[in-house]
Amino acid sequence: MQIIRAKDYEDMSRKAANIISAQILMKPDCVLGLATGSTPIGAYAQLVKRCQKGDLDFSKITTVNLDEYKGLDRDNEQSYYYFMNQNLFGKVNIDLSRTFLPDGTESDSDKACRDYDKIIEEAGGADLQLLGLGHNGHIGFNEPGDEFVAKTHCVDLTESTIKANQRFFASIDEVPKQAYTMGIQTIMQAKKILVVVSGADKAAIVKEAFFGRITPKVQASVLQLHRDVILVADEAALSEI
Ligand code: F6R
Repeated sequence: MQIIRAKDYEDMSRKAANIISAQILMKPDCVLGLATGSTPIGAYAQLVKRCQKGDLDFSKITTVNLDEYKGLDRDNEQSYYYFMNQNLFGKVNIDLSRTFLPDGTESDSDKACRDYDKIIEEAGGADLQLLGLGHNGHIGFNEPGDEFVAKTHCVDLTESTIKANQRFFASIDEVPKQAYTMGIQTIMQAKKILVVVSGADKAAIVKEAFFGRITPKVQASVLQLHRDVILVADEAALSEI
C-alpha cells in the first residue's frame, strides 16, 4: 500500500484529484468506481474545475457507484444519484447513460443486485475504485459483521443510521431502511483502489483498518490484501500511525 500524506482536507482533495485525473488521462475510456459521502466532495470539485478548464475529458468515461438507498428515486435529494449529479455528473461532460448506481427504485432486491453486478461485469470492472472510510471501517455499505459479502447485496440500515438520517426527511417513515451496496469481492477486483480519509476522528480506524488484523469486523481491513491501494489522507487522519 502506498500512503500519500496530505496537509489538510484541501490538500487531500487535490492529491486525490491528481490520481483520478492521471487515470482519466492514461485511459480516457476507463471505468471509475465512485463513492458518495463528505470526504470525496473536495476531490470532485477539483475534477469539475479541471474539466471546465478543458484539462480533463469525461466524455468516454463509465462510472459505477458503490451504493444507493433502496426506495429512493434519482430525483430524491437524499439519493446517492442526486448527490453524484450535484457534485460531479451534472458539472462535467460525462455521458449520463454511462453513469451507474444500483437502482434504488427496484423493489426486488435480488433483481436489483443481480442487475448491478451484470452492469459492473459488462463494463469490465473498475480501473480505479474510489473509497471513503466509515468510522467503523465500513466501505460502501459493507458494515462490520461475520463475513465479507462478495457481490452486490441489500443491507438493513442500523437503527442509529436511520435515526441519524431522519433529519433529512419529513417523517421517520420516509427514511430508507435498506440500501444496495457493491460487495467486497467486486471492490477488490478493481485494478487500483484509492482511499480518501480526512480528520482526527478517523485516525483510530485508519490504524485499525490498514495496520490491524484482517477481519470482517473491520471490512476495510481486507484492502490490505489488494496489491494496488493508495491511501490519501490528511495529517490528522494519519496521526496514529
Ligand atoms: C459512500 C460510502 C460510504 C462512505 C463512508 C465515509 O458511497 O459508501 O462508505 O464512504 O461512510 O463517509 P464520509 O466520507 O462522509 O466520512
